[in-house]
Amino acid sequence: MFKPTIVLLWMFIFSFNCLAQQQSLPKTSAGFPINFNEDAVGTYILPDILRLDNGQKVSGEKEWIEKRRPEILQMIEHIQFGKSPGRPAQLNGQVVEQGAAFRGKAIRKQVVLCFTKDDCSYPVNMLVYVPSASIKPVPLLLNLSFSANNQLVNDSAVRTGYTWTKDGRRVKADTSSRFSKMNIEQFIDAGLGFATIYYGDIEPDFKQGYKYGVRSLYKDSSQYNWAAISAWAWGLSRAMDYFEKDKDVNSRRIALQGASRLGKAVLWAGARDTRFKMVLASISGEGGAALSKRNYGENMLHITDTSRYYYWFTPEYHDYATHSQDLPFDAHMLLALMAPRPLLLQTGDSDYWSDPYGEFLSTPEASRVYALLGKSSLLHKEYPQAGNTSLLMNELGYYMHQGGHTVLPEDWTLFITYMKKYL
Ligand code: GCU
Repeated sequence: MFKPTIVLLWMFIFSFNCLAQQQSLPKTSAGFPINFNEDAVGTYILPDILRLDNGQKVSGEKEWIEKRRPEILQMIEHIQFGKSPGRPAQLNGQVVEQGAAFRGKAIRKQVVLCFTKDDCSYPVNMLVYVPSASIKPVPLLLNLSFSANNQLVNDSAVRTGYTWTKDGRRVKADTSSRFSKMNIEQFIDAGLGFATIYYGDIEPDFKQGYKYGVRSLYKDSSQYNWAAISAWAWGLSRAMDYFEKDKDVNSRRIALQGASRLGKAVLWAGARDTRFKMVLASISGEGGAALSKRNYGENMLHITDTSRYYYWFTPEYHDYATHSQDLPFDAHMLLALMAPRPLLLQTGDSDYWSDPYGEFLSTPEASRVYALLGKSSLLHKEYPQAGNTSLLMNELGYYMHQGGHTVLPEDWTLFITYMKKYL
């Protein structure tokens, strides 16, 4: 039975909650005001994804692949993330330990990726599990993580790694991380492999971090203007180089997952390296899947300020921060670089800082490319309610959980469903 008083009461409580949440949001970041008001976003124009720089319309698949895609890739590389080197000749991935895990369900491999010949400067430690029951190479999820390998999993055989503190100290990871552990068995039970890398092994995440990570191996070369996100993405490609030789893994069926800054990194890794079959980008926000020209939550001024994360991006990107409307691309183009490969965006409805709606608004334009390539996408779709999975199962998919800046256990369950279908 319809009860107007109950509905009114509910609406009152709901708006009160929203107001209370909004009121507790920060007003400034790096000294710049933050807009959390939909009515004050203003107008912006997105560069046409299907028009070449010379003004001509992209007529079909061939032109997208041969002309427009390379144009966009180069633009984003040059201006936002920077150019990184290719595969180092000395690359070597060594399995330093192998054993049974999770009561014999999985085979564990601990792999060290080395980029220099003799001394293995800046080793990247990768932990890999594959189902022991599988008789052929398995599809696998490669997770870029905030935790050292031993902190992420419940497996006492995993070697204790090192993590970096914000003030630049490298410490033994012998305490638990503030991030939750992963349930690995859910992947194994679904017939999937799982691998993880601590991002700080590739390059520590602070201003002078480049001195202690892979970028320092190329410090004498002026042709690479890569910033930290590019370095993390580069490390993932080196993991892919290893997987191409691991007979237990099907390297043509590897999905990347990362959250937040690591969501930005996996988007760039998937864009650059088409060997990755799928990307699951969680809460990637500004500089990731959220439109930069849209002034809501974090914007380019906040993220590129020297007191914050300028070292994630190239100096060219900082220059655009004061006039983002002139940026010749936006997040819709970054997303389209994944097409026709599957890409899932996961957000949270109260993660205002990362602008979940701004991520959704990238999808109609990116969808034009998915549609051109014959894939299912989010053309003409409405913004879903939190928890509604109706936009999830598409080659370009979107899902918003009820909650904030995190990946919830139930998100992982959905990712597995997505991987089972599209990987
Ligand atoms: C900060 C930053 C975001 C980033 C996030 C994270 O909030 O401003 O851009 O995504 O950190 O990585 O958690």
